[in-house]
Amino acid sequence: MKSFRIRGGLVFTPTGTVEADVIVRGERIESVVEPAARSDDAEEEIDASGKWVWPGLIDLHAHTRVPGYEYKEDYATSSMAAAAGGYTTYVDMPNVEPPTTTLELFEEKRELADRDSVIDFGHFAGPTDMDQIPKLAKAGAAGFKIYQVTGGYPHDPRLAIDDPARLYETFGAIADTGLPCVVHPFSQSLFEHLYALETKRGKAADIHTFSDVYTRDIVWRLAVAILLELQRETGVRLQVVHTHAPGSLRLLRRAKQDGLGVTVAADPKYFHLRHEDIQKQGARAIPGGAVTSDPGRMQVIWDAIDDGVIDIIDSDHAPHTLEDLKLMEEDPLIGPFGAPHYDHLLSLMLTDVSTGKIRVQRLFEALTEFPARILGVYPEKGAVLPGSQADLVIIDPEMKVRPADDEMYSKSAWTPYAGWEFTGGPTLTMLRGEVIAQDGKIQVDPGFGHFVPGRAQRFSDPPPGRWQGVSLEPRD
Ligand code: NCD
Ligand code: ZN
Ligand code: ZN
Repeated sequence: MKSFRIRGGLVFTPTGTVEADVIVRGERIESVVEPAARSDDAEEEIDASGKWVWPGLIDLHAHTRVPGYEYKEDYATSSMAAAAGGYTTYVDMPNVEPPTTTLELFEEKRELADRDSVIDFGHFAGPTDMDQIPKLAKAGAAGFKIYQVTGGYPHDPRLAIDDPARLYETFGAIADTGLPCVVHPFSQSLFEHLYALETKRGKAADIHTFSDVYTRDIVWRLAVAILLELQRETGVRLQVVHTHAPGSLRLLRRAKQDGLGVTVAADPKYFHLRHEDIQKQGARAIPGGAVTSDPGRMQVIWDAIDDGVIDIIDSDHAPHTLEDLKLMEEDPLIGPFGAPHYDHLLSLMLTDVSTGKIRVQRLFEALTEFPARILGVYPEKGAVLPGSQADLVIIDPEMKVRPADDEMYSKSAWTPYAGWEFTGGPTLTMLRGEVIAQDGKIQVDPGFGHFVPGRAQRFSDPPPGRWQGVSLEPRD
């Protein structure tokens, strides 16, 4: 059985940071010991002095593109990007071809991931067929994903559920499974109306007008208002993604104060890419770059991250080829958008720690413990504790990282952060006691990753106050 002593790092545990050594034996963490404690019989030493030792990152928002869009990304390339970026577990989305809406398609997807993924994986399924919901849950779906935005790929109309009666019925069936229901909230009809108004008034039907209208507060807030009332009625474990609209955050804050079963995710493009990035990079930077054109909106997002209204930072790793993005430039109503994120997400966010935008403890929770709790795998994963799986990332908080298109694991081979300079990044990633990435190089073969089945939970299983961490005083 392999064993390691990870020596001299600052270890992030559920109760705080401690200068300690971590002893790993086989697939598990055996102990967290004083640096001076007698060296036992660990086979190998890993020097972590000057570094941080975190649980491996867990992502609940991957677009692996399998099956059907392997020319954009696949399980090998997405998981290698993730492993090199400090991730040890990811859960991917059903917007593939054909969409993952049946037991049979779910099992096919699981086999492909089993063959190719270097990190542990789970799948969200599309809950568009009521009969399939319990079957998918039994087969180990991590939960379900509903889109409310439609158009062309990646926003496949076959996965969209918008009608309140259908949402009510679907939420009820998902509530019975005890699994989370992830929703991309959006009022498609209002968006289309506002977009048509702008173009009638003379604005160009281009990515700028599209991004402006796509990110309008009311388009998101309206959807969130309906989702929250349906959650209240059905008790489904609702997870709202892409949360960047101040109006949505206001509603979500109140809902949490009311004790509603809702968790909130934000993805970094919405609070990093700037208006000038859309000017410079075009479709690569949309729609995130549109949010920053409203001064003050970014601060609302940072405040919600800080006080825990936003529980987790997910990647929305959403690769498209540059060729495909040209479609977006031609017709934004049907073209694809989204950007790869795994290669640099941790460095991007560590830079925010170094510039004082986010507390390191909050970032740590938002990337490790909280996603693990939502997935129901905590503290088996998502914690550096004796007995937990040895899923770890060692972080150098000082290292300089300069993203470049030609140094990406992601098959799409571009990043909206090319030319930026980041401070901090992962140097080693370990999954179940095996080093899977070191200094950006992958150390294991495709297929090392295991399937992580979803776990049923009642919303009250972890007491909301503890892990939602919402402050009692509303800021607005
Ligand atoms: C995602 C994709 O490409 O699959 N695109 C995106 O805008 N991030 C879909 C999605 O998350 O809405
Ligand atoms: Zn989405
Ligand atoms: Zn997405």
